[in-house]
Amino acid sequence: MLAPDIHLIFACANDGVIGLDNKLPWHLPEDLAHFKKITTGQTVLMGRHTWDSLPSAFKPLPNRLNLVMTKQIHWSAPGAVAVHSLEMAKELHQAHWSKIDPETHTLTPAIWVIGGAQIYAHTLSLAHTIEMTQIDLDVKGDAFAPALGQEWREIHREEHTSSKGVRFRFLTLKRF
Ligand SMILES: NC(=O)c1ccc[n+]([C@@H]2O[C@H](COP(=O)([O-])OP(=O)(O)OC[C@H]3O[C@@H](n4cnc5c(N)ncnc54)[C@H](OP(=O)(O)O)[C@@H]3O)[C@@H](O)[C@H]2O)c1
Repeated sequence: MLAPDIHLIFACANDGVIGLDNKLPWHLPEDLAHFKKITTGQTVLMGRHTWDSLPSAFKPLPNRLNLVMTKQIHWSAPGAVAVHSLEMAKELHQAHWSKIDPETHTLTPAIWVIGGAQIYAHTLSLAHTIEMTQIDLDVKGDAFAPALGQEWREIHREEHTSSKGVRFRFLTLKRF
C-alpha cells in the first residue's frame, strides 16, 4: 500500500474560531452531514481533547478507524486506537486497511485529520487537501483553525444557507 494521503477537515466561524470550552460553539446539522459523507469508510485522526468532546452516542465515529493522538502511554477508550505520533498513525492506518478486502472497499482510504487545534497545527505541513466549512457567525472561541500560507488555494466552493438562516460554504483547498 502507498503512503496514505492526509487531509484536514474543519468548520470555522469568523476569525477562525473552531471551538470553545471543548465544544463546537454552533449547531449546524448540514455540516455534520457533510463531515459524515466525507470521512465515512476512512481513517479519522483526532486529538484526545476532541475525542473527549464527542457525545458518547457518536464514540467511536461509526464506519471509520478512530485514531486518537495522546502523549499518555496508557490511555485507552473503547473503540479508539491510541497513537503517540503521526508515524504510528500512518502505520496503524496501513495495517488496518490492508486487511480489508479491496473488492468490498473500492475507495483508497485516506487519513482525515478531524481536529482539534493542536492536531491541525501538528499535521498541516503534511496535508494534501483541506475541506473547510466557513460559517458566517461571530462567536467566542478558545480554539482556532490553523493559519494557512499562500501555498493553499481554493479549488472548489459551494454556498449554502442553513435551515436556521445561517450562511455557510464548503471550500476545498489544495496545496500548490
Ligand atoms: N470546528 C471543528 O471543525 C472542530 C473539529 C475538532 C475539534 N474542534 C474543537 O477543538 C477544540 C479541541 O482542540 P485542542 O487543540 O484543545 O485539542 P486536540 O487537538 O483535540 O487534542 C489535544 C491533545 O492531543 C494530544 N496531542 C497533541 N499533540 C500531540 C503530539 N504531538 N503527540 C501526541 N499527542 C498529542 C494531547 O493529548 P494528551 O493530553 O492526552 O497527551 C493533547 O492534549 C474543542 O473546542 C473542539 O470542539 C473543532
